[in-house]
Amino acid sequence: MPGARAAEAAERHAPVLLDRCTAVLSPALQHPRAVSVDLTLGMGGHAAELLRRHPGLRLVGVDRDPHALELAAHRLHEFADRVTLVHAVSDRFDDALDDLGLDTVDAVFLDLGVSSLQLDEDDRGFSYARDTPLDMRMDPTTGRTAADVLNTFSHSDLTRLLRTWGEEKFAPRIASAVVREREREPFRNSARLVDLVRANVPAAARRTGGNPAKRTFQALRITVNDELGVVERTLPAAFERLAPDGRLAVLTFHSLEDRITKNVLRQLSSSSAPPDLPFVPEGSGPRAELLTRGGEQAGEAELAENPRAASARLRAVRRLPEQDRSRSSGRVTSRNPRQRDTRNSTSTNRQTTELGPDHGTTDGRTP
Ligand SMILES: C[S@@+](CC[C@H](N)C(=O)[O-])C[C@H]1O[C@@H](n2cnc3c(N)ncnc32)[C@H](O)[C@@H]1O
Repeated sequence: MPGARAAEAAERHAPVLLDRCTAVLSPALQHPRAVSVDLTLGMGGHAAELLRRHPGLRLVGVDRDPHALELAAHRLHEFADRVTLVHAVSDRFDDALDDLGLDTVDAVFLDLGVSSLQLDEDDRGFSYARDTPLDMRMDPTTGRTAADVLNTFSHSDLTRLLRTWGEEKFAPRIASAVVREREREPFRNSARLVDLVRANVPAAARRTGGNPAKRTFQALRITVNDELGVVERTLPAAFERLAPDGRLAVLTFHSLEDRITKNVLRQLSSSSAPPDLPFVPEGSGPRAELLTRGGEQAGEAELAENPRAASARLRAVRRLPEQDRSRSSGRVTSRNPRQRDTRNSTSTNRQTTELGPDHGTTDGRTP
């Protein structure tokens, strides 16, 4: 049973672009045996709305954070007989569907990044606004922490991750300061890192663009959770698992994950034939139809209520039935939708829970 404060916060949590996400996915969920997978279940906000709108819908809810699953179980209690919870990283969802005997699904949804609850929990270490332990693991049961990264990575690896994943202009300077300071004492808490970043960016950079530690924290979080690698592996695999006319929708919150999403969806919705050919060769027509124009953003009313929605971008596709594909491109050679490569998967840690009356958690921990 989650703590009362956390459960209340979960109930209050406002899912981002809720109406638009539901509208994009709903056409695929009209039939009585529809199955939807939420690969970033969080506090179950989007999931609850889909379950409410589609009374026959079965939902598989995946999250890498056991605490999030506990909260979602609590929130989705009224739909318990239609919900299955899975503790896994999204790039392992294929195995979970195999275990559940589900060959294909009608919709897959991802709302990437950390939840507002994770940001607010002091022991999780995601926040640069308060002094918290430098953890940042979405799944606190496994893997290295942000402190481990700071205390063990070489100067060049720190520079690379700050530059690539934090888009930090002053990466070498910050990396040098980290290497120097950890000799005195290993990093444990966030306030010391925030002070260090502030002291190592020019005064002009301190005055603009919010907290100067924001980019360093983003880079550490992405590294600790292998966030971009996971998204790169998850999206193509999720698409392969869609039934014809099935829909995939992705909400991103920073430019790096949005770029990956845009590229994967654009590739799926483009013909692979050379553009100068006068005909489309067999099997090279688009596999998907884009359902969003660019990355759709929240409107003013939502932004006034929920400032976190400002960085959200929604992108979605519909999987084209093979016959539609062949209509535009000649005969289609079918691919094996079950073919997949999980060699690079992040986690082998996966547990499935039917959300029964006691809405048990995946590993029995209490928050
Ligand atoms: C932004 S929240 C989702 C909020 C949810 N849509 C709602 O309305 O309550 C993201 C959640 O997804 C989880 N998460 C993020 N990336 C994940 C991944 N690659 N695999 C599994 N869970 C992930 C996080 O632990 C977090 O609980």
